[in-house]
Amino acid sequence: MDSILVRGNGPLNGVIPIAGAKNACLTLMPATLLSDEPLTLTNAPRLSDIRTMTQLLQSLGAEVTSMQSGQVLAMSSHDLTNLTADYDIVRKMRASNLVLGPLLARAGQAIVSLPGGCAIGARPMDLHIAGLEALGAEIELRDGYLHARTPGRLKGAVIDQRFASVGATENIVMAATLAKGTTVLKNAAREPEIVDLVKCLRAMGAQIEGEGTATITIEGVDRLHGATHPVVTDRIELGTYMIAPAIAGGDVELLGGRRDLLGGFCDKLEEAGVHVEETARGLRVAHATGRVQPVDVKTEVFPGFPTDLQAQMMALLTTAHGTSVLEETIFENRFMHAPELMRMGGRIDVHGGHATVTGVEKLKGAPVMATDLRASVSLILAGLAAEGETLVRRVYHLDRGYERVEEKLSAVGAKIERIKGE
Ligand code: EPZ
Repeated sequence: MDSILVRGNGPLNGVIPIAGAKNACLTLMPATLLSDEPLTLTNAPRLSDIRTMTQLLQSLGAEVTSMQSGQVLAMSSHDLTNLTADYDIVRKMRASNLVLGPLLARAGQAIVSLPGGCAIGARPMDLHIAGLEALGAEIELRDGYLHARTPGRLKGAVIDQRFASVGATENIVMAATLAKGTTVLKNAAREPEIVDLVKCLRAMGAQIEGEGTATITIEGVDRLHGATHPVVTDRIELGTYMIAPAIAGGDVELLGGRRDLLGGFCDKLEEAGVHVEETARGLRVAHATGRVQPVDVKTEVFPGFPTDLQAQMMALLTTAHGTSVLEETIFENRFMHAPELMRMGGRIDVHGGHATVTGVEKLKGAPVMATDLRASVSLILAGLAAEGETLVRRVYHLDRGYERVEEKLSAVGAKIERIKGE
């Protein structure tokens, strides 16, 4: 398995282009299952998770053609030949569960493996199930698989989610586009990926209002047609690379960056003393070499501080000028990067859902390893500011969500390289 070697090397300067959003693309791709006409996505990110979703869709009978080095995905689900999402694919990537709503709505049946727990938490699917049952689906758990069927067409309903789950909102909205009648989803997730999904569904002929607010209303239609849709900018890749000049010093412009995608993240970066500015092409982040100010951070649903940037923020705060407290409220086990950062000299005390981080003057390079995607990239960020070499092992996780990380960071002056096959 590849590793990434980072040598702390002072300020970063230049431009980093931000890709299309992994988490938007992973919900846009299953939307192809809703129509027998082609759906084409542009600005797709080139990531292993996208290849996994491609395999899953192909296993269901969809045609998926990757063009322009993977940035364009041309999909067609004219004939669905299989309605089972197999455990072997679902266990690799939880987002596979996003085929459940579309298959059920289009084919009246779906058998989807339960993904099981993962490193960051148990991540049950009760909200997906409750929402689809409210639309009239009958769902049973047998042999580790959810067996879902609907006697006729799904029927619109009023659904009030206990928690604004991103995935459940996506499954319910997709299913409701083809239901009979009106669905009102209350306490819906408001993340930019949901807004992007709704834009795409609307381009396919769906009638939806309220995306980006807590109440989404969907008027079911008889069929959806083909469309071409550009994937929204990846706000998490954006936030990750905004931390690079904050931790190492420097001045970097993030092409395609938008402040409105970042919710509470920009405010916290500014509170830490980092300069953030909108430009004609994106966002510019500048910070003189030196320690940032400590800030307290609490992860929340959008527009709060995103859980997917908590590990990267912790890396930044390990060198802050004082003590910060990070509170993780979305996932119950998302501090696995803390012990690895501590191997690099970070002073971190994890107690339940809180982590107290006391900034040190300088981190020290070390061999480290992480068990999830955002944790892995936080170690690379820490390596940019550390003295000596940091070897991040098991970059399999990183490749799921960051395209060409070593190229993007080298382009702004980082000393970073991929070591093949260790
Ligand atoms: C999405 O996961 C993202 N994944 C995650 O990105 C992200 O961390 C998360 O949203 C929160 O923003 C994709 O979009 C593919 P949730 P999702 O359902 O949809 C609980 C990354 O690094 N919950 O909003 O699975 C759940 O256990 C990742 O790119 C239930 O209790 O997130 C969790 O504690 C990782 N029952 C909380 O809600 C349910 O039925 C948030 O989960 C569903 C969720």
